[in-house]
Amino acid sequence: MRLNSPQINLITKACIKASRSLIRDFGEIENLQVSSKGPGDFVTSADKRTEKIIIEELQKAHPDYGIITEEAGMINKSNSKNRWIIDPIDGTMNFLNGVPQFAISIGYEEDSEIKCGVIFNPIMNEMFCAEKGNGAYLNNSRIRVSNKKKIKDALIVTGGPKGISKIKNKIFSEYINVSNHVSNVRKFGSASLDMAYVACGRFDGYWQREVNYWDVAAGIVILKEAGGFIDFFEKDINSPLKRNVLATNSNIHEELKELIKKKDIE
Ligand code: IPD
Ligand code: CA
Ligand code: CA
Repeated sequence: MRLNSPQINLITKACIKASRSLIRDFGEIENLQVSSKGPGDFVTSADKRTEKIIIEELQKAHPDYGIITEEAGMINKSNSKNRWIIDPIDGTMNFLNGVPQFAISIGYEEDSEIKCGVIFNPIMNEMFCAEKGNGAYLNNSRIRVSNKKKIKDALIVTGGPKGISKIKNKIFSEYINVSNHVSNVRKFGSASLDMAYVACGRFDGYWQREVNYWDVAAGIVILKEAGGFIDFFEKDINSPLKRNVLATNSNIHEELKELIKKKDIE
């Protein structure tokens, strides 16, 4: 691999270290699923365990860097110049159900821009990573977005809405509208992997409302370095960590944007 910044080396190592316990935990899920208690609490502790290992590793090198992470919230809040953005398990529902579609996602942000990122599915042993200006990789191979040109041939992935969403109906009608104009739509349950899959051409586009910054931070640089386009639309200044995401192979970007903005889904 030709990525060599100290930050990418650090997050790659942190991911691999944390993945060892995550793989062990995933192996336990099968037993817990048939137990009377169920795997719920265990998953929460797997999340926390994974996050702790990642934070410890990153802090060994940079104790002063800011951290935004799903479980522990914000650390070193005053440092907004250099920040790690972490989701220890992205795809918790899959993890909980023994479905191997989840990932550790870590992005490194400098002066408000994501400079490098890693999305690692430890069960499939697939590590997606990228560094600004140096390309995107899946394990040791360079990746690129698909070359699909027509929206009607596109395979699109999405997620949500969450149970608590106040705009469920809007999201459902958006889904219908997009489905009517593309080849097919998938829901895979891990926003970071959804973006990584667009980056390597498995999907042609991804959109989702109401994701968190840590779901997509690493994906931003991976997708861009793979030649894709990403837009955050309808920003909500009251929720700075929330995002509405549109990410594509670039050819179908405007068309997918139009489908999402269509008046008939308001
Ligand atoms: C979730 C996953 C899912 C997406 C949700 C996220 P979590 O993250 O990325 O695909 O639809 O919006 O919250 O809770 O599994 O870390
Ligand atoms: Ca997540
Ligand atoms: Ca998570």
